[in-house]
Amino acid sequence: MRTHKCGELNKQHLGEQVSLCGWVHRRRDHGGVIFIDLRDRTGLVQVVFDPDSPDTFKIGESVRSEYVLKIDGTVRARPEGTINPNMGTGEIEVLVNQAEVLNESETPPFPIESDIEVNEETRLRYRYIDLRRTEMQQRMKIRRDVTRHLRNFLDAHEFFEIETPYLTKATPEGARDYIVPSRTHDNAFFALPQSPQLYKQLLMISGMDRYYQVVRCFRDEDLRADRQPEFTQLDIETSFMNEDEIMALMEEMIRQLFAEILDIELAAPFPVMTYHEAISRFGSDRPDLRIPLELVDIADEMKDVDFKVFSGPANDPDGRVVALRLPKGADLTRKEIDELTKFVSIYGAKGLAYIKVNDRDAGIDGLQSPIVKFAPAEVWEKVLEKTGAETGDLIFFGADKANIVNEAMGALRVKLGLDRGLLEGEWKPLWVVDFPMFDWDEKNQRWNAIHHPFTAPSCSIEELEKNPGAALSRAYDLVLNGMEVGGGSIRINNTQMQKTVFRILGISEEEAQEKFGFLLEALKYGCPPHGGVAFGLDRLVMLMTGASSIRDVIAFPKTQTAACPLVDAPAQVNEAQLKELGIRLRQPPVKSKAEKE
Ligand code: AMO
Ligand code: AMP
Repeated sequence: MRTHKCGELNKQHLGEQVSLCGWVHRRRDHGGVIFIDLRDRTGLVQVVFDPDSPDTFKIGESVRSEYVLKIDGTVRARPEGTINPNMGTGEIEVLVNQAEVLNESETPPFPIESDIEVNEETRLRYRYIDLRRTEMQQRMKIRRDVTRHLRNFLDAHEFFEIETPYLTKATPEGARDYIVPSRTHDNAFFALPQSPQLYKQLLMISGMDRYYQVVRCFRDEDLRADRQPEFTQLDIETSFMNEDEIMALMEEMIRQLFAEILDIELAAPFPVMTYHEAISRFGSDRPDLRIPLELVDIADEMKDVDFKVFSGPANDPDGRVVALRLPKGADLTRKEIDELTKFVSIYGAKGLAYIKVNDRDAGIDGLQSPIVKFAPAEVWEKVLEKTGAETGDLIFFGADKANIVNEAMGALRVKLGLDRGLLEGEWKPLWVVDFPMFDWDEKNQRWNAIHHPFTAPSCSIEELEKNPGAALSRAYDLVLNGMEVGGGSIRINNTQMQKTVFRILGISEEEAQEKFGFLLEALKYGCPPHGGVAFGLDRLVMLMTGASSIRDVIAFPKTQTAACPLVDAPAQVNEAQLKELGIRLRQPPVKSKAEKE
């Protein structure tokens, strides 16, 4: 139907006869001449309807926004003074000699512009219109470029792309499962995979050596800007590679990706930091290294002070007391500090003590704070020294159970860094390694796997059993600008070790057999040493496009309540379908009026 795309025309095409198809982006009637910006995926081009050809002109007059149009015409230079430098095709226009309306359109619910003020529910309800916007088209293009590049890289490195089932059994990755009833097996359900973790391990046992898959994962969990109930992983597994080899290959892939798509040189090699160091310096296992602020432990200094808020946690083995220096922060107003206090309270902090350093040389007399009186001058001198405080700085304090301090002060660090424009450098990748195997779930009185239960520890079975809390895992996360974009590990390839981990996690022998018997069995048949990683593709594309939510890089995402307003899912199913599945609802659906009659 067409000879060219709208956005690709330029001066080289002058004088050519072209056929174009696209949408009427804008239509202007300039006293006798009609200008239409015709739009397709590649961009806009101005087409001109001249009254000299009355039949064609009539069509130009009749079309409205978002009509689908086909035109034949001649490319010509725009007259002096009408050149549009903001438009890729701004030096030319197409004089129409024939036009055909391929379809009409109702007035769209919102304009197809970049900076639209439309609520997200409406954008998602009319996603097919939202996706027509240049911004969204570019994001989809980058997403296509990213997956294509990743596939090319992995293909070149002899990975097999292999599909694994979506109708499967629960894979524990820490979220709730989406379950699907089986019609052919009474009272039985499939679970949609939270990841292909176990299948990819089975593929290594199958001798596939190197596997990857661009794969959908399903997790019923609380949603945020960087979390969707169904999202895409670039999932990878390899045999006979240790963690250093896997990390080196993967960072090469990411470096090439950024170089090719964004023309950005990432650090080589990526820095590596232990989990312990990340938590201690940044309060987070996914620190944003662009922010030059750090937590400084001051528990030693605060053990004997007269301020219970500090001395309590300083003497508690599970407690933590930290200082966070904000350079040039003394200009913060009382109101701003109150706002920040409210902010840290979201993370459970009971307050946010601070000191303004008005004159560093004046010792304790140069400090302004309601808490200065609680400790002697030498204690504050030590704190100033440790934090490297200077005149004009502000120091925040957090004291509580370590996990609260880490979360609250870690989040405060990020907020201050972003709000006050302190970011240094554009892209800061980081490998975080040496995660603990488990963390203790106080509420349920049991250990949880920090990565997943198939991750190998870096110690022996005996050591693991003796002190699960001290065991480190052979897991690694890739963090980019404060976001976890990928995570993986070397896996357990030994039945005894796998059983031990299940036991520590409180999974009984019977339960382990019932849930993972197939894995325990497969491990007996010559399971090679293996390990892998999965990248959050949506997150990667979100960072690369500068989008603020992964919803903006997914063609048809779910809302915050895990629904799709476009097709109106989830939806009720009819009685016959339920009956066939052997399902009776606890709360029968309210019958619609039509059904009642
Ligand atoms: P993990 O659970 O860390 O590991 O997931 C890997 C990566 O997937 C992304 N991600 C998400 N993205 C969007 N929405 C979500 N709800 C969501 N959850 C996770 C993150 C994360 O780093 N099987 C293991 C990988 C392995 O060990 O090889 C796994 O799934 O970017
Ligand atoms: P209070 O004596 O409770 O009024 O607290 C004095 C100062 O300490 C106030 O600035 C509080 O915001 C702050 N504060 C209280 N609890 C904590 C805490 N757990 N961590 C840090 N600062 C706190």
